[in-house]
Amino acid sequence: MVLTNGKVFIINTKDNSYVFHVDETGLLLHDYFGQHIEIDNYDIKAISQKNTILKGTTTIYKEDVNPNLSMDVTLLEFSFPHKGDYRSTPILLKNNANGYVFDFNYEGYEVNSEVKIESELPTPRDPDEELIIHLREKHSNVRVDIRFLVFFDSNVIARNITIVNEGSEELEVLKALSLQLDMFNNNYTVTHFTGGWASEMHENTTSIKPGRIVHESRTGFSSHKDNPLFVIRSGTSSLDNGEVMIFNLMYSGNHINEIELNTYGLLRVMSGISPFCFDYKLDKGQSLETPYAVFTYSNRGVNAARNNMHNFVNNHVVNPEFKEVVRPVVINNWEATNFKFNESRVMKIAKHAKPFGAELFVLDDGWFSTRNSDTEGLGDYDVNKKKLPHGLSGLAKKINKLGMKFGLWFEPEAVNPKSKLYKAHPEWAIKNSSVEPSLGRHELLLDLSKKEVQDYIIENVSSILSGANIEYVKWDVNRHISDIPNNEYVGEFFHKYILGLYRVMNILVKKFPKILFEGCASGGNRFDLGILYYFPQIWASDDTDAFERMRIQYNYSYGYPLSCISNHISSTPNQQTLREISINTRFNVAMFGVMGYELVFDELNKNEKLRTKQLIEVYKSHREMFQYGEFTALESNDHSIRWQITSKDKKHAVVGVYYILQEINPQETFLSVKGLKEGKYTISGLGLEHDIREFGSSINMITPFYVSPKGKLVAIASHFIKMPADKDEYKVHSSELSSNGIKLNPQWSASGINENVRVMGDMSSRLYLIDIIEEESTQESEQK
Ligand code: DGJ
Repeated sequence: MVLTNGKVFIINTKDNSYVFHVDETGLLLHDYFGQHIEIDNYDIKAISQKNTILKGTTTIYKEDVNPNLSMDVTLLEFSFPHKGDYRSTPILLKNNANGYVFDFNYEGYEVNSEVKIESELPTPRDPDEELIIHLREKHSNVRVDIRFLVFFDSNVIARNITIVNEGSEELEVLKALSLQLDMFNNNYTVTHFTGGWASEMHENTTSIKPGRIVHESRTGFSSHKDNPLFVIRSGTSSLDNGEVMIFNLMYSGNHINEIELNTYGLLRVMSGISPFCFDYKLDKGQSLETPYAVFTYSNRGVNAARNNMHNFVNNHVVNPEFKEVVRPVVINNWEATNFKFNESRVMKIAKHAKPFGAELFVLDDGWFSTRNSDTEGLGDYDVNKKKLPHGLSGLAKKINKLGMKFGLWFEPEAVNPKSKLYKAHPEWAIKNSSVEPSLGRHELLLDLSKKEVQDYIIENVSSILSGANIEYVKWDVNRHISDIPNNEYVGEFFHKYILGLYRVMNILVKKFPKILFEGCASGGNRFDLGILYYFPQIWASDDTDAFERMRIQYNYSYGYPLSCISNHISSTPNQQTLREISINTRFNVAMFGVMGYELVFDELNKNEKLRTKQLIEVYKSHREMFQYGEFTALESNDHSIRWQITSKDKKHAVVGVYYILQEINPQETFLSVKGLKEGKYTISGLGLEHDIREFGSSINMITPFYVSPKGKLVAIASHFIKMPADKDEYKVHSSELSSNGIKLNPQWSASGINENVRVMGDMSSRLYLIDIIEEESTQESEQK
């Protein structure tokens, strides 16, 4: 909550405090961001930076007022260039009267507990309070408002700036970042997430050294090249201890995150729209609002900070229509058919998926016009009657008859040059009149900065959505932006495209409030909080290999809750990596989030079908927890990953344990479970029966005579003889679980086959279900 005496500003969330003040020079100085502190009578002397000596060769901001204050060596709440701060600054402006030099001073503030924000940008919902600081540059009469939105329970603060040109001259905004957070360095590291198509969210951690680290997207989209999410933590922090700050930007276009450490140990963290080709012109009276940067802090390690972000996204970002709504199990035909399908083929896929728990069939790319490959037809959404003789509504009816919902793929932002739409409206594609446009996946993007293009998309998509019983939409886009137009708005183009996209999404989700929209951009090329504001879930990656996905999902979880991460189980060998991974592990990974299928069920053997039926039951009976529970990482190293999901009432949990490579003489494993209510619990490991053929020639250790492991005898015997499923079943007290944990059965290691041995192997996994059987009565309930 916001406390202020007009000079000192204190923002408190449940666990944290954020403090800054107005200096006698009129600058805003930053004092503190960290765990909650009590401050008496706004006395911040103890936590403020002491500017009591003059540091050599510095430029003094206002020598007559404070002879020791140089912006370059001061923790600032809002900085600007050319007045002594030689670090990167959040803002760069230009006009005829001032050139590049603007001098912003504090003018006033507002605190509002009833927050009503009208914006073209996605704005976090239902803040508890807002604080607006007004700054003014006197000569040019430009105002900057810094807005803080407070999310008390989630421990999240959102911050943006608005630049208002109240002067008489045109103002050029060349850089306008949303977040500036100055602090003393504390042996911090920064983690950001890079990647490419089908390889999203590679975690990169570097220790922060003097100089500037820049993470940026220049593709037009938030991009798989560098997700806007990043983490700053102390070098000594761990999953459950130490200082961790998580930052994200609620924006789907070009972004930049800058982390700069100077020689005095002052660290500046900034985030906002990338200044790449950004040159916004503001006439008298016009303003520019920047997207919200959101950030959180915890001194209890990564898990606590991550959970702050998860609570924030689930409660303050996602469309309230889908808040806490469990998401359906979809069966999508893309990996099974690509463009080659017809009604009977897709009906078969849907029918076969139904007994395995699929609830919604999604018809992917290729259902319209001449779209039989990715080279043509995109943009012409007239149903291909050869493939679908009964149209979309006929197909939807048939799918509904099976007891399933029907969903549809679109790529509304793009067009193939070989299409009727492009022939009719070549001027709607993003192009520069002086050069030939470059294609990406044989397509051009439509210019969503133009209102007529936005209106066309809204109308076109609406008419299809109204023409059949469509209950889900996969909204795809499959290239980056290139060839930005050479018109007078060239410096505004990237941002205006995203504003146009937000307008389209906003209108469509309001018009079709019950449709579940899933964002997709060749997988995770636009996985960000801006998209999640409109579409409650996003297809995480075109890589459906469970091993790759484990890392991708884990890294998304730093800033995005599991309810937003869409994961499909696909065939083996995997289409992207040719890796063979058991159905068990494919399930055990995909279940942590919004699980669906992209499988051909007839390709599964009897055992796989059996396992699928067991696991879909587990998923569905724990679905709310898998999507909305508290996610805790237990371990992550080169050999294994373990994570836990815990129900809201803290009486149930599921732990996933994943081994990357089978080790010989592996270390004994114990299972430690965190954060459960006091009481007695059952644990049950979902062990697996094994086919004797998995043991190769070791089978001879138990046969009286030599048998060929690949021979007929073993093949026949495999139908009758199974290696028993391992059983890790216990009844324990919560204290045993949360201690060092319970010792699990040892792993098979060249010997031992019985139910007290876990036969694992490469890319293997186990789920452990932990359920309360008796709650311990607390003192409080006894007193009642
Ligand atoms: C890219 C998506 O990520 C895939 O899932 C699929 O929908 C294809 N596009 C279709 O073209």
